[in-house]
Amino acid sequence: MHAPEGTEGSGVRGPRTSYDVLVIGGGIIGLVTAWRAAQRGLRTAVADPSPGGGAAQVAAGMLAAVTELHYGEETLLGLNLASAARYPAFAAELEEASGQDIGYRACGTLAVALDADDRAHLRELHALQLRHGLDSQWLTGRECRRLEPLLAPGVRGGLRVDGDHQTDPRRLTAALVTACERAGVELRRAWVRRLSVVRDRAAGAVLEDGTELGAGQVVLAAGSRSGQLAGVPDEVLPPVRPVKGQVLRLRVPGAYAPFLSRTVRAVVRGGQVYLVPRESGELVVGATSEELGWDTTVTAGGVYELLRDAHELVPGITELPLVETRAGLRPGSPDNAPLLGPTALPGLHLATGHYRNGVLLTPVTGDAMAEALTTGELPGEARPFSPCRFTSAPRAPRVLQEQPV
Ligand code: GLY
Repeated sequence: MHAPEGTEGSGVRGPRTSYDVLVIGGGIIGLVTAWRAAQRGLRTAVADPSPGGGAAQVAAGMLAAVTELHYGEETLLGLNLASAARYPAFAAELEEASGQDIGYRACGTLAVALDADDRAHLRELHALQLRHGLDSQWLTGRECRRLEPLLAPGVRGGLRVDGDHQTDPRRLTAALVTACERAGVELRRAWVRRLSVVRDRAAGAVLEDGTELGAGQVVLAAGSRSGQLAGVPDEVLPPVRPVKGQVLRLRVPGAYAPFLSRTVRAVVRGGQVYLVPRESGELVVGATSEELGWDTTVTAGGVYELLRDAHELVPGITELPLVETRAGLRPGSPDNAPLLGPTALPGLHLATGHYRNGVLLTPVTGDAMAEALTTGELPGEARPFSPCRFTSAPRAPRVLQEQPV
């Protein structure tokens, strides 16, 4: 595959480099897409000022297909389960390709209830899980504490989900950067100013400094900023919005280990709280969910709520050193599911909108995008997530200023 030769209509001059595939955005989704595309023999570049940044630097890395099941999201459940099933082989392949450990840990999850309302909510979730044939076991409070002795005495019951595991998103990202480099992916460390469209086809992108990159196919994988790229026709622009999550990182000193043996989570006063223990001794506590636009401020209120709720679950956390507080932006979509594959603009694909499931969906997204880039078609399991599901209803036109993505 070769990029079109002309630059007509771009208004940009200068040397032009051409790729088979240009991925805009170097977070985990952009990187896995590029890695898989390069493995299929496509000459691939990723444009991002700091590849490996993005929401994965904040994410806890839960692979929670079963414990994060919601009513109305049964189609997404299928994709989440397909990706979870691929994780062991994906982790082994990526670790081999990069020479780095991605912290994949088959530890399971315990979702607990602290009061009667929480317990009723968990009972509903359990019934939904069983209706879908998922592996989830109801435990009494005492059985929960037998599994995790540091749980609060007031825990009223819980769900043991042995198939919801975790990986370390920072290690995953670093490994993907290395795997991309080793597979020959070119990392263009720059912001993208706009998409280039030539004769009604995506033809590359213009970088911040005016450099034009040509490409036979372009993948927009810019996370929560994916809906902001100038040059993308309005009807194709993904309806993605930022959803803020504040996350804490604590450290479990050797004397306290093992603190928790698996991910422990709950819904407290309507908010999700989870504690994800890593083998390295890191304990991740997340996460708020805030619709505040592009704000990434860590607030006293956010930290307070997370610590208050986590403390209700596991009182001993107040003894642990707090080593990091950070906020990131999940790429939310109207149906909480990703947008994958070809758009109505020939040559432009999307890989965005993964919302709460970016880390979980990394393996299946890489496979689906590689298939779409080489055959023009998404594999069966990814077809319900075509961006075309949002393009039938016309949306009000938006005027986008050129701003780097
Ligand atoms: N999947 C966890 C979160 O987005 O907070």
